[in-house]
Amino acid sequence: IEDLAPIHETTDFPMGVAIDSRETVGAAAQLLTRHFNNITPENHMKPEAWYDAERTFRPHDQAIALMDFARANNLGVYGHVLVWHSQTPAWFFQDEAGAPLSTSAAHQQVLRDRLRTHVFAVAESLSDRYGPFGSATNPMRAFDVVNEVVADSGEFGDGLRRSEWYRILGEEYIDLAFRYADEAFNDVHAVAGTDPVTLFINDYNTEQLGKQGRYKALVQRLIARGVPVDGVGHQFHVSLATPVANLGTALAAFEDLPVTQAVTELDVVTGTPVTRANLIEQGYYFRDAFRLFRTYADDLFVVTVWGLTDGRSWRAGNGAPLVFDDNLKAKPAYHGAVDGE
Ligand code: XIL
Repeated sequence: IEDLAPIHETTDFPMGVAIDSRETVGAAAQLLTRHFNNITPENHMKPEAWYDAERTFRPHDQAIALMDFARANNLGVYGHVLVWHSQTPAWFFQDEAGAPLSTSAAHQQVLRDRLRTHVFAVAESLSDRYGPFGSATNPMRAFDVVNEVVADSGEFGDGLRRSEWYRILGEEYIDLAFRYADEAFNDVHAVAGTDPVTLFINDYNTEQLGKQGRYKALVQRLIARGVPVDGVGHQFHVSLATPVANLGTALAAFEDLPVTQAVTELDVVTGTPVTRANLIEQGYYFRDAFRLFRTYADDLFVVTVWGLTDGRSWRAGNGAPLVFDDNLKAKPAYHGAVDGE
């Protein structure tokens, strides 16, 4: 790999990257550990990843590979995700016969119990293997407790996504997810007297004003109810057409609230075809974005890019979204990110 300045040494906030177990070996692992000091499991800690076909929870090999890799290389782990409408087993929302849960009191309790059992199973399996959260052997630092719970349009008064979680429990599921996560990760399975796992809410398009307003209103309601939300995540899946200033409005909107913030899933598509010119434009984009992030360094828990190399990105088809290419070479985007210093 190239002998370049480590990105994380040019930022005052931790630098994260989303990976799966493929990036824990070989040259990719070398590139990763040079430039980043935090990882997010791209898929391996999503609800569906924890269950086998018999619906049995197990601490599966790929989650273990990421945790082992983090511990061995002194990286923090930002867990992703406990509650989501996507990549979640369908049976979570079904009765024994496979019919959708109703909104009866009994069925609501079934779903509350499943939520609690799931959250505690994740916390217990990780603390069994790595020691309690907050101990030197456990690299878990944060978790996305709920993901993408805000509606994409302004059509609903409460601004919340109409997911199965919402249909059955209403807004309550968000409160419960944070309360269970706080109990499991910061109490029952934590070093006594510590609060080691920062609990995040996370969403996309928060750089757009409508979504941003609904997101902030929800976070304010949670805080008012005493829900233990510690952090606000901004995915920032953007393109060259998204003004960097919009990212600034998202970070500024939450400054007056008692929360930390994170850029959780940054990628910047160039559009296709990918040309020399738009890769250079992307370099300036990363420069400006990282200049902005540095001005928020005190408030930023982490800035995470959503993948190590372009070809591995979930948005690869929309044009080279990341900072390293498929030969593990730094793109103009890398130079922009470090040059914004
Ligand atoms: C994506 C992964 O990158 C893909 O590999 C997977 O097929 C689908 O999910 N918002 C999120 C992430 O919170 O979990 C998503 O990750 C991207 C959008």
